[in-house]
Amino acid sequence: MIEAYADRWALVTGASSGIGAAFARLLAARGMHLILTARREDRLRELASELHTRHGTRCEIIIGDLVDPGEPKRLFDEVKRRGMAVELLVNNAGFGFVGTISDTDPARMKQMVQLNIASLTELTYLFVAPMLERGHGGIINLASIAGFQPVAYMPVYSATKAFVLHFSEALWAECRNRGVTITALCPGTTETEFFDIAGVSGWLAKHRFHTAEYVARKAIRANERGRQYVIPGWQNYLLSLTVRLARRKMVVLQSMRFFRPRPQDPKN
Ligand SMILES: NC(=O)c1ccc[n+]([C@@H]2O[C@H](COP(=O)([O-])OP(=O)(O)OC[C@H]3O[C@@H](n4cnc5c(N)ncnc54)[C@H](OP(=O)(O)O)[C@@H]3O)[C@@H](O)[C@H]2O)c1
Repeated sequence: MIEAYADRWALVTGASSGIGAAFARLLAARGMHLILTARREDRLRELASELHTRHGTRCEIIIGDLVDPGEPKRLFDEVKRRGMAVELLVNNAGFGFVGTISDTDPARMKQMVQLNIASLTELTYLFVAPMLERGHGGIINLASIAGFQPVAYMPVYSATKAFVLHFSEALWAECRNRGVTITALCPGTTETEFFDIAGVSGWLAKHRFHTAEYVARKAIRANERGRQYVIPGWQNYLLSLTVRLARRKMVVLQSMRFFRPRPQDPKN
């Protein structure tokens, strides 16, 4: 569990936009100091200056590309070198892709697996060890409602999030009596840059969504309460139950309706 927020350090990956930036703002408001990491330095500097002005937050910025297999260890070593003990790790950096098989670049899918799975796993193990030694700390890993089922036209993305969900829940069980809570955050559609990057601009306009701030707030509360996963929004929660009860064939065929490319989509 988090022993105290004020004057403790939180590390947020993918802090330059969306849910990561929302975490940074909420944690700074609780008095935490922040280590912000992502690739876009200008965005991180702008956020750091906002948080410092508003809350007096100390912000350390570490620029890095978590698709690079050497980056998690480099990040861990850099945090150690700067003398900061991480009380809360938010493994948030990630991306998705929506498209048909012929639209899919296998190299990009490999990068997605590296970022969404391999880097997240390595960072979790690197940072959980000192937390367990101290007997307190928290980790929030970004899964997704898509992690509860296979999703056609985003098979790699939904599989990476199923990994994050299972991995985090299993580690939660190992850590729960040792003072450390690991929580898988499983949002549904959230208002961020995610869908533009995934290749479906305009998706948000057509669907109900939550704000990044709402999603991050739910995750912090769930981690505080020692929960192994959280699904923000009751409709998303119901969906996660439905897919457990329905036939697997029905579930995956249903998913095609949501992301099937349509002739009126701009890229077609
Ligand atoms: N939005 C949704 O509907 C939704 C739903 C469920 C789960 N999620 C998950 O929520 C997490 C955050 O996504 P978001 O919705 O906030 O999208 P976003 O606005 O696109 O933010 C993604 C963040 O990840 C960082 N990132 C991407 N590639 C990176 C790389 N190679 N190395 C380091 N950082 C990288 C980006 O920073 P730079 O580009 O500056 O590196 C950015 O800060 C993701 O794991 C996503 O899968 C989102």
